[in-house]
Amino acid sequence: MHKMTEKNLKDAFSGESEAHMKYLIFSDIAEREGKPNVARLFRAVAEAEKAHAAHHLRLIGGIADTGENLKEALSGETFEVEEMYLAYDAVAKLQDEKAAQRSIDYALKAEKIHADMYKKASDKVGKGEDIEIDKIYVCTICGHTREGSALDRCPVCGAGSDKFKEF
Ligand code: FE2
Ligand code: FE2
Ligand code: FE2
Repeated sequence: MHKMTEKNLKDAFSGESEAHMKYLIFSDIAEREGKPNVARLFRAVAEAEKAHAAHHLRLIGGIADTGENLKEALSGETFEVEEMYLAYDAVAKLQDEKAAQRSIDYALKAEKIHADMYKKASDKVGKGEDIEIDKIYVCTICGHTREGSALDRCPVCGAGSDKFKEF
C-alpha cells in the first residue's frame, strides 16, 4: 500500500474510533435525559463507525489472530501503565490539575489490572487454549475491572454495586 494511503487510513481509523466512543457516551447521556430514541440512534451510528474502523484497521495490518491480538493489547496496556499515564500524572501534578489527576488515576489503576488479565490470557492462548474466567465486573464510573463477584463498593472510586456492569 502507498505510504500516504496507509497514513490516511490510520488517521481515519483514529477518527472513526473516536466517533464510535463518543457516540456510545452520548447515547448514555441521551438515555439519562429520557430520550431513548436519540440514544438508540447514537448506538446505531456508533456501530456503523465501528465497521468503518474495522475495515481501516484490517487494511493497515492491525488485526491478527487472538494470540497476536492479546500480545498487542498487552503491549498497549503496559505502555499506558509504565510510561504514558505515569508521565501524564507527573505533568498533571506539576500543573496542579486535580480533576485530571483523578481521571488519570482511575485509568492507571484499571490499566494495571487489564495488563495482568491480558498477560494471563496471552499465556493460556499461547498454549492453544481458551482462558477459564469467572464473571467479570466493570465499574462504569472509574473502569475498575475485577473477576469474580460484584462488590458493595468500588475500591477505587467508591461507587455502589449498581454501578457495576457484568460481562
Ligand atoms: Fe464513519
Ligand atoms: Fe485498559
Ligand atoms: Fe469505580
